[in-house]
Amino acid sequence: MDHLTVVDHPLVQHKLTLMRQQETSTSEFRQLLREISQLLAYEVTRDLAMTTKRITTPVQEMDAPVLAGKKLALISILRAGNGLLDGVLELIPSARVGFVGLYRDEETLQPVKYYFKVPEALDERVVIAVDPMLATGNSSVAAIDMLKEAGAKNIIFLCLLASPEGVARMKDAHPDVPVVTASMDESLNEHGYIVPGLGDAGDRMFGTK
Ligand code: URA
Repeated sequence: MDHLTVVDHPLVQHKLTLMRQQETSTSEFRQLLREISQLLAYEVTRDLAMTTKRITTPVQEMDAPVLAGKKLALISILRAGNGLLDGVLELIPSARVGFVGLYRDEETLQPVKYYFKVPEALDERVVIAVDPMLATGNSSVAAIDMLKEAGAKNIIFLCLLASPEGVARMKDAHPDVPVVTASMDESLNEHGYIVPGLGDAGDRMFGTK
């Protein structure tokens, strides 16, 4: 997989535009996020390893394609990651799920850890870390650090929006972790928000502002 994949599918781009608009309500935002995360999940799983399984159709036997290896691990980077997680889980219902709790100190913009719980045998799974916004990259890089410490070897980072700074930071810290996103936006502002962005993803999906 390339280090950066921007999913330019027309449905993804249309839904993203609706999400960006400030007049989009919390319930519409949540619904769009659910829909867009399924489309992104489709792309992020494109290169999964396959094997075959002998099955019998009503007509005859065949060797039919199935996913190889252990169940995927989806890791939500709290709290906004949960919005992406729901839609991805609908597409991959048997995935194992973990959570990394990090919040961003609004002054230093540095990540602070408060929770970490991940599935066992992380080293044998494809691990998809989800967080809607790859902004400064500080918390995303810290989350990937923790997942690697817990044994993860094959990690993909899935987000909705990325900034050039965040992508560069991720590439620098974790060149082995591909980033899949719906958009690479222009820049970051002085508060660490993605520009033009969509505002605070957590606030918009949970209606906390
Ligand atoms: N987190 C958000 O929710 N939005 C941004 O623009 C940056 C970080």
